[in-house]
Amino acid sequence: MAKQILVTGGLGFIGSHTVVELQNAGFDVVVIDDLSNTTLKVLDQITEITGTKPAFEQIDLRIKEDVKAFFDKYQIDGIIHFAAFKAVGESMHKPLDYYENNLGALVYLLQEMRDRKLDNFIFSSSCTVYGQADELPITEKAPVKKAESVYGNTKQIGEEIIEDATKAHDFKAIALRYFNPIGAHPTTKIGELPIGVPQNLIPFITQTAAGMRDELSVFGDDYNTPDGTAVRDYIHVVDLAKAHIAALQRLLDGNNKEKFEYFNVGTGTGSSVLEVINAFETANSLKLNYKIVDRRAGDITAAYADTTIANKELNWKTELSLETALKSAWEWQVKQK
Ligand code: WQD
Repeated sequence: MAKQILVTGGLGFIGSHTVVELQNAGFDVVVIDDLSNTTLKVLDQITEITGTKPAFEQIDLRIKEDVKAFFDKYQIDGIIHFAAFKAVGESMHKPLDYYENNLGALVYLLQEMRDRKLDNFIFSSSCTVYGQADELPITEKAPVKKAESVYGNTKQIGEEIIEDATKAHDFKAIALRYFNPIGAHPTTKIGELPIGVPQNLIPFITQTAAGMRDELSVFGDDYNTPDGTAVRDYIHVVDLAKAHIAALQRLLDGNNKEKFEYFNVGTGTGSSVLEVINAFETANSLKLNYKIVDRRAGDITAAYADTTIANKELNWKTELSLETALKSAWEWQVKQK
């Protein structure tokens, strides 16, 4: 009998890629999404890729009664929790919406796990918790620093809530601290669907290349980095999705060493904005229109992962290159006519 896994936010960018990998790994999947930042079309695309339509419930996880009703209906063997608001800038203008959605919903899910003696919780966290780390590459021992955004704070507090819950109750959890997820599924049936003006670098690059934006603004070239532009660890979303399967299997097999664990999920390689632009142009044989402008408030100079622990403990490592990710991002963009 296949294990049944709940994926909240399962029609989102990382969630949809994770649903595909869960189905590929033989799990039954139930998706919860409130459709606030995606469309039901993604469910059809997932079905086209894997041949199996995941069960789907449109639920706002801030409504406690609806969360309870879900667990009355489904027998769940594990939860992968993506559902959250995630726009850093927006979070500064709508802090209470972010705390209510990102933390309120989390508490309701954990209460159901407690009350129904469920187990195995995977949390979508972020390298944002480290702020500007003192040492690079960033290991899991790096201190969590005061969040620079409400969004980042919801990830920090979320981890603390989960850790406290695992100490008091009989379930175990893993937080995956993502670096910068990019790219799209090789079938180009699912990818990143930013609504409105993209905040993140890669969608802004692909929309500029597609003529939807006049030019890319490079936020600062006066950082203390080799070419002056900021450095990040860009991980292919399919590699990131597979890290969730590895983490879930660790919990299902009881191989966790603590009741609450966290792992850095990145490639281990840093790339500057200019390096990404050059790689994008080369991978896709095109020229990108960009200009250097002032730094963006709140940006850090550099962040890239030390992946030693994740590689060893999750028996997982990235397999897809930056170029592959940038090609898939462009192929996905071209399809978005
Ligand atoms: C990357 C680099 C920008 C846009 C985000 C989330 C964070 C986490 C990782 C989820 C930076 C530069 C960007 C543009 C630019 N996600 N840039 N021009 O800020 O590293 O982190 O992804 O957990 O929470 O905030 O990603 O893609 O916004 O920026 O020059 O138009 O590209 O300055 O150096 P970021 P990003």
